[in-house]
Amino acid sequence: MSFAGKKIFVTGGAGFIGSHIVESLVKAGATVKVYDNFSSGKRENLAPFKDDIEIVEGDILNKDQLSAAMKGCDWVSHQAAQLEITTCVEDPLFDLRVNTEGTLNVFDSALENNVSRVVSASSACVYGQARYVPEDEDHPQVPNWAYGVSKLAAERYGLVYSNTHDLPIYSLRYAIVYGEREWYGRVLTIFLKRLLKGEPPVVFGEGAQERDFTYVGDAVSLHNSCFETEAAPTSFNVSTGIGTSIKQLAQEIMQVQDLGKDILFEDVKVGEHSQLVEQNRQRLPEELEKMILSNEKAQKLLNWSPKMNLADGLKREFAWLQQNPNFWDKMSY
Ligand SMILES: NC(=O)c1ccc[n+]([C@@H]2O[C@H](COP(=O)([O-])OP(=O)(O)OC[C@H]3O[C@@H](n4cnc5c(N)ncnc54)[C@H](O)[C@@H]3O)[C@@H](O)[C@H]2O)c1
Repeated sequence: MSFAGKKIFVTGGAGFIGSHIVESLVKAGATVKVYDNFSSGKRENLAPFKDDIEIVEGDILNKDQLSAAMKGCDWVSHQAAQLEITTCVEDPLFDLRVNTEGTLNVFDSALENNVSRVVSASSACVYGQARYVPEDEDHPQVPNWAYGVSKLAAERYGLVYSNTHDLPIYSLRYAIVYGEREWYGRVLTIFLKRLLKGEPPVVFGEGAQERDFTYVGDAVSLHNSCFETEAAPTSFNVSTGIGTSIKQLAQEIMQVQDLGKDILFEDVKVGEHSQLVEQNRQRLPEELEKMILSNEKAQKLLNWSPKMNLADGLKREFAWLQQNPNFWDKMSY
């Protein structure tokens, strides 16, 4: 894939997924401009390719700065968001502002600057509790958290803008994206950090909840396909289609490095706090039982399929963590 000659604007480019997108776009020959307020993003995420890109520190809620920064860009990748579940529970208005109003600012700025295509990050959270698995893109969308509502609204605005204006907008419903430079807080990262310290995973309850863990490189290749597709603007799941229970994840983690210890199980109910995990980690309220997303639509329309299996992806993330043992200082979620 070559994007030589294209100028691409990436909001949230200093974050986990955004920095991988930026890296791949630079490799594909594009000129890249990152727009980020560095609330969760890090300059060190961009350090290896910082000389090849332009970085603007700014907020997507500052519409004038955003639109001015986007001048001259051909395409936009919109990754900036408020994604902490605890924040959306405590302050849904802030979540709405960043994820819906901020996204509308991105779309309006794209219109003002004659951008020809936008790829926008959504989330599996638009579905809420699974009525069936794997969930396809037509699965009922009944979010369990305010975050899913703000993301769903942003998606729907994307379709309205695509229909009303000559601006195709593609939305990506990421499952659990993992990999190098991931932020610290979700179960996979907690297990890996414990492994680094020689401690076995702590599984809450029986660990029967199932999740779809998708490697970041696969998410990026689907994202990039959206810049080239002739398919009509739509939403795509970004997923493996494979459900892994938390107990299975813990078993996989024990294969990454043999500690000669057993997995720990702790009776932490939904919404309660752990006694064993760092920062007395809370088990999230309204937790999803299953989140497994079908990727048939992306396979059919984008000719895309995920390449990384979980065992190899975990090894890669652990190898990166060993090289960057202080990267995960504070837990967020
Ligand atoms: N990581 C996942 O598994 C996952 C799953 C579902 C959806 N998503 C979505 O993917 C996108 C990227 O997520 P991520 O995991 O890389 O998170 P991240 O926190 O690493 O990246 C978000 C980036 O956006 C920036 N940002 C936040 N608010 C901003 C604002 N108001 N103005 C400008 N920049 C702002 C942050 O500084 C950060 O660099 C988000 O839209 C998120 O909702 C991620």
